[in-house]
Amino acid sequence: MKKSIRIVLIILLIHTTLMRGNTSPPTSEPQADFPKKVSEILTNSCYDCHTTGTKAEKAFKAMDFKKWGEYKLTKKISLLTKICEVTEGGVMPPEKYLKQHPEKALSASDIKTICNWTKKETEKLIK
Ligand code: HEC
Repeated sequence: MKKSIRIVLIILLIHTTLMRGNTSPPTSEPQADFPKKVSEILTNSCYDCHTTGTKAEKAFKAMDFKKWGEYKLTKKISLLTKICEVTEGGVMPPEKYLKQHPEKALSASDIKTICNWTKKETEKLIK
């Protein structure tokens, strides 16, 4: 599983490197670019840690939704893959955090929404 993801990422990397000549310069997308429903879910369940200025420095250093627009294409693609993985796997939001904030838990339909979005967004990015 892990290995196949790595292979896909390498292929994507080669693909985007080859395609670079044809694409316009990256524009910085505001975070508001996320679909409304996705944005709502992420804001509720993830932003407490994954945005600059929170106390969870380790979390926003790993992924900062406020800096999403500044991330390189390859970083976005890699994070999108991980976002689906960790939510589907129940790794994020962390269990300890959910004990204190049960209302931040993701429902099965939230996870579906997130993963559908990460896949669509990845396809959009590599076009
Ligand atoms: C209580 C704080 C907290 C919340 C809430 C939280 N995370 Fe995290 N997250 C972390 C921490 C801390 C790390 C870094 C773990 C490490 O490096 O050991 C992390 C790491 C990650 C990573 C891995 C980044 C990388 O580059 O490896 C992803 C992806 C992620 N979180 C997604 C999410 C998503 C999606 C949500 C919401 C559904 C979420 N997280 C909610 C604390 C949080």
